[in-house]
Amino acid sequence: ERVVLAYSGGVDTSVCIPYLMREWGVKEVITFAADLGQGDELEPIRLKALAAGASRSLVDDLIDPFIREFAFPAIRANALYEGRYPLSTALARPLIARRLVEVAREVGADAVAHGCTGKGNDQVRFDVAIGALAPDLKVLAPAREWGMSREETIAYGERCDIPAPVSKTSPYSIDLNLLGRSIEAGPLEDPMVEPPEEVFAMTRSVADAPTEGQVVEIAFEQGNPVAIDGERLDAVALIRRANALAGAHGFGRLDMIENRVVGIKSREIYETPGLLLLIRAHQELESLTLAADVLRYKRQIEMSWADLVYQGLWFGPLKDALDGFLDRTQATVNGLVRIRLQKGSATVVGRSSASDSLYVPDMATYGAEDLFDHRAAEGFIYVWGMPTRLWAARRRGD
Ligand code: ARG
Ligand code: SIN
Repeated sequence: ERVVLAYSGGVDTSVCIPYLMREWGVKEVITFAADLGQGDELEPIRLKALAAGASRSLVDDLIDPFIREFAFPAIRANALYEGRYPLSTALARPLIARRLVEVAREVGADAVAHGCTGKGNDQVRFDVAIGALAPDLKVLAPAREWGMSREETIAYGERCDIPAPVSKTSPYSIDLNLLGRSIEAGPLEDPMVEPPEEVFAMTRSVADAPTEGQVVEIAFEQGNPVAIDGERLDAVALIRRANALAGAHGFGRLDMIENRVVGIKSREIYETPGLLLLIRAHQELESLTLAADVLRYKRQIEMSWADLVYQGLWFGPLKDALDGFLDRTQATVNGLVRIRLQKGSATVVGRSSASDSLYVPDMATYGAEDLFDHRAAEGFIYVWGMPTRLWAARRRGD
């Protein structure tokens, strides 16, 4: 049996290599590691897999498709799970699954494997995605079945010559990519414990952020961010710039109790500076360029979209259908948003759209150039208030 394992270089996925071979009799483990801009050196990770017993160790740069095909749609959808989490981890999973399946085809594997636990969302995302893309491939999830604690996993690894993590002392479980970092476990499992400063890496603390704020200008075309402060940037460079700007001003941290797919609540710390900044700017531009009813309707679509991405249904029918709606709405989301970053906050201070603004000054103004027909309001209010008057009269017994 030949298996392709989604590999991160961490202990859990490293231990999966000997475990699959020794306990489950897998003949050959080929690892696949995705570069999603997490900033890790990939060559050491590649060699680590070989040292742990992999017969081949593959590494792929997926940063560009990650941002263009996954992050930008999330920005267009203003996707915030439970109103807050911009899905930085969740968005990576369908891409990794897609590439994992391609690699399995390329090397002629009969199964794929991942190192997710049985308590998380990630297992759901991988398994559902692989089932949709390649129903014939078996999915092996050793960490879901081995029942080892973290300490036992490390000990098992040491018996197989897998070095304990350098950060054996770090109690945190961290998932990271170019969109952000998700931090959980250790002392954070107590929801009353304030996250220590050491868990953050992409954002400055508010205390350390400069008192002087900074105004940034973000330009969008068809709902996609295309330029920052007048400089056109490709998708990846734009996210990097947004991360650096927002992070420097201490914007983009989240501390929340979230509801996992498997029915438990977990305490999660996130830092996703660029993504949160871009979503805020995008929401603002939509408020200028989308009609009121579309805007309201889109809020519901956004919530469903965020839920289904969180819940691992990226390759499902609802996602496909909602994308049709989102695409159609984004045609007019063109323009510029100005945001002041200062001491942990990102405050919108301006917005404009030369081609698509629905804000009509002559209608909105309180000045002399007002074109709004004030007398027309009277008849409107008579009709508009009719049901309320009739209901109130009945209640009074008139
Ligand atoms: N709870 C988040 C999600 O479901 C992040 C999970 C991150 N994984 C981790 N090992 N910290 O998207
Ligand atoms: C895991 O349990 O594999 C990580 C956490 C998650 O998937 O939510």
